[in-house]
Parts: sequence; C-alpha cells; structure tokens
Amino acid sequence: MTLTIAATPPSSTTCDALVVAVIAKGRGLELAAHGITAAQGAKVLAALKAVGATGKPGEVTKIPGITGIKAPVIVAVGIADPRKGLDLEALRTANGSAIRALAGTRKVAVVAPPETVVLRAVALGARLAAYSFTAFKSSPSKASAPVSTVVLLVPGSVTAEQKAAIAEINHIADAVNLSRDLVNTPPNALAPVDLAAAAKDAVDGLPVKVTIWDEKALAKQGCGGILAVGQGSANPPRLVKLEYAPEGASASLHIVGKGITFDTGGISIKPAAGMDEMKGDMGGAAAVIGAMQAIARLALPIKVTGWVPTAENMPSGTAQRPGDVITMFGGKTVEVLNTDAEGRLVLADALGLAALEKPDLIIDAATLTGAQRVALGSRLAGVMANDDASRALVCTAADEAGEAMWPMPLPDDLRASIDSATADITNIGDRFGGMLSAGIFLKEFIPAGQSWVHIDIAGPSFNDKGAYGYTPKGGTGSAVRTFVQVARTLAAG
Ligand code: BES
Ligand code: MN
Ligand code: ZN
Repeated sequence: MTLTIAATPPSSTTCDALVVAVIAKGRGLELAAHGITAAQGAKVLAALKAVGATGKPGEVTKIPGITGIKAPVIVAVGIADPRKGLDLEALRTANGSAIRALAGTRKVAVVAPPETVVLRAVALGARLAAYSFTAFKSSPSKASAPVSTVVLLVPGSVTAEQKAAIAEINHIADAVNLSRDLVNTPPNALAPVDLAAAAKDAVDGLPVKVTIWDEKALAKQGCGGILAVGQGSANPPRLVKLEYAPEGASASLHIVGKGITFDTGGISIKPAAGMDEMKGDMGGAAAVIGAMQAIARLALPIKVTGWVPTAENMPSGTAQRPGDVITMFGGKTVEVLNTDAEGRLVLADALGLAALEKPDLIIDAATLTGAQRVALGSRLAGVMANDDASRALVCTAADEAGEAMWPMPLPDDLRASIDSATADITNIGDRFGGMLSAGIFLKEFIPAGQSWVHIDIAGPSFNDKGAYGYTPKGGTGSAVRTFVQVARTLAAG
C-alpha cells in the first residue's frame, strides 16, 4: 500500500472513500474532522445517526457520500475524545479497523490531525491494516484486496516534520509487513537457506554487512545447538549475522531471533492438529530481519547487530535423539531430553556469539514456548531479563511502539529443574512456569555482567483467529516495532 500526505481539502479530494473520525457526545455524535463545513457536517452526522452509529472507539460506519463532498462513500470511525487524553494505540487500532473495512476499495483519503504524534498513529494503523498475503494464490480476490492507496489529509500545508514522520512510518510498516510475509510463507518455500537469503535481500543496498555460516562453518565455530537441531533435516541449518555500524555511533545493541523454519518437534514429535502453524516458528528471526532493515533505512545512530540462527526441526534417521548430549558454542554441554525444546538450543549458540562482543544490550525474540500462551494469552508477549532496568527499558519501548508486552520473572529456584545427571544442564525444566524455565535455560549462556532481555512471542507472533484492528490473520510482525524503538531509545542515550 502507498501512504502519502497532502493538504487538499477533504471535500474536494478525489478518492473512492473518505474516512472521518467521530466522537460520542452524550447520546449524540461529534465530527472530529477539519475542512468540512458545518452544513456538510450536520448532513454526515444525521446520516450516521440514522444508521445507528454511536461513535464508540473502533466502530466503523459506512454511509453514501453527500452533496458538497466529492467522495462517493464516507466512513466514520469512532475514537475516544482526544481532549480527555490521548491513547495512541487506540487510534492506530481504530484507523486500522476503518482501513480493513474498506478492503476492495482502491484509493482512500483520511481526514487527519496535524500533530505529528497523532498523525504517526493514524498512518501506522492504516499501513499495517492494509495487508494481505497472496503470494500463493493463483487469482487473488479483488473484492477483498487491501486498500492500495491512502492519502492523509492535513489542514493548511504539509510541513517538513509531517513529511519526515510519514517517511519513517513507511519504513517501519515495510519492515513489519516483510516480517509478516516471512512468517506466512509456507515451510516448503522457506528452508533455512531461504531464510538466510531473505535476510540478505532485506538489507540489500543498505549499509549492513551480512555473514552467513553454512553447516561446515557452524561445525568449525562449535555451534553444536544449531547443528543438532538441524541434523534431522534434508535442509541444512544456517546462521546469519547482520551488522549495521554507522560512523560515530557509540551505543551497541544485539538482537537475536529464533529461526526454526518448521518445528515438527523432531523425534519428540508434536500432535498433528495445528502443526501447520509451526511454519511460524521463525517469527523471532523475521522480527530481527525486519528490524535490521528499518533501523538501517532510518539511519539510527547506534550500532545494531542482528543474529538469525535457523534450522528445520525434523524427525529422521539422522535426527537428534532424546538423551543425546551436545556441546554448545562456548563449551557447555546439554542433555537433550526433549527434541521439541529446540528453539533454546539454536538461540544459545547465537547468544553466546553475541555476548563475545559485549554490547550494551542483547535482546532475543522467540516463539519459544506453548507455556507463554498459557500464561499470557495470544496477544501479550512475555519479557524476561537478567537485569530489571533492561527489562523495564524493553517494556517501555514496546508500549511506545504499540506492542503488548508484559514483564515476567526468572525465578532462581527454577534453575535446579535444568540440572542434568549426565551433562551440564538439560534442555527442559519445570513444566509449571515453562516460559520461565526456558528463559532460565537461555540465561545460562549469558556471561555475568552482560545485560540481556528475552521476549517470548509464541502467542502474539501468529494470529490464528480473525483479523482485528490493524492485525491481520497469520503472521503479525510481532517484535519488529519494539526492536526499532529500543534502538531509538539506546541511540538517544
Ligand atoms: N515452537 C514451540 C513453541 C510454540 C508452541 C510456539 C505453540 C507457538 C505456538 C517450541 O519449540 C516448543 O515446542 N516448545 C515446547 C517446549 C517443551 C518441550 C519444554 C512446548 O512449549 O511445548
Ligand atoms: Mn519445539
Ligand atoms: Zn519451536
């Protein structure tokens, strides 16, 4: 979708539909749109009332156009009264709902407020809502095609600040949508080599250095976790490193994403129902790839390194067995008691490598545990860390970016549940608090003094229900915006 900004008057703008905001006022409605005369506004409100519009935040009501307004269709979207406090996420969601309700429409004009913070929210909601994944449809439906052009109409004239805000939002939305595409791509079309190639493509032409380890290089490097998970598959594993190091930058951030292109569970095989969703087990990797692209395009003044450990977890004659002991990067040995706890194995190698460079902060994002969904549901990510300030920094960034994430603990008592009789540790801990024991496992690979945050996005990364707000069905692009916002925060010092 193309998103632009203009200062043409709403009533004379050529478009297929015009979106205006409305606010509930007592039993009535109030129009929150500039450039519409009192007489036109009264007509719009009368038509809205006639069809039962209430102005409830997120409510979308379509009415036919009126004399004096060029658009053949007017769409009213309910928003909370901005004079009673600004909820930017509610605005993103409301505008997302409006744009989604207009699927099948080509050009939409949105009457937008001039303040850049609000404008950004309206813009992002629109861009993220106009998404569909049709790469594998032989003839995609035109009737449900996402809106192809959105023009935001501001009063007066377009300022340089507004233009810059829209350019930024476009980079962020491109990155989120790229991440969604990667998650939605079927597993037979996205093996580890393909994910590595996609990472390289994503930063093509940008000042990002790409290094890819193949299975031989991984063996030489001692990445026993990535190799063990990948050994059962005909599609070999890879490790990708993406380095963005702008001149003069002093702060440094490493982001690591779980890249299991398909998780059957391996020999500890998963039940058949819903296994197809495990094509999305590379959601963390997709977030890293998207975020690296956005950070480089935005030219943020901070060194950011992305890591994508990627493998396919398959059962076969060459697959790892429950009971195997493997040696991870850095030398720690792990007794693999359950081959379905594979994400932590690939992450451990990448975290160990990232820690060698002693960055200011390491963050990983991973579709790591079913227990995350049990604890927090499908929409809220769990945030764990070895240091409270870093965890708070990530949660605040998520909130600013509009992603739902919640702080969770890493209780010391769970450490005993990964004790192994044979090796240094096992790869599964207490089933109660399974999200936390997975975090406790990862923490073993972070040296003392290294700040690290772990985000479990098992639920929010993939929407298995209907679309809502600006969130489509399938891949959501979870964690991209948070990564970018953390980079911004650290860059600002
Ligand atoms: N990829 C899964 C976690 C998952 C489940 C993500 C559902 C999204 C939706 C992960 O590799 C896994 O299988 N975890 C196991 C760990 C267990 C064996 C300790 C789980 O959660 O059951
Ligand atoms: Mn698994
Ligand atoms: Zn997995």
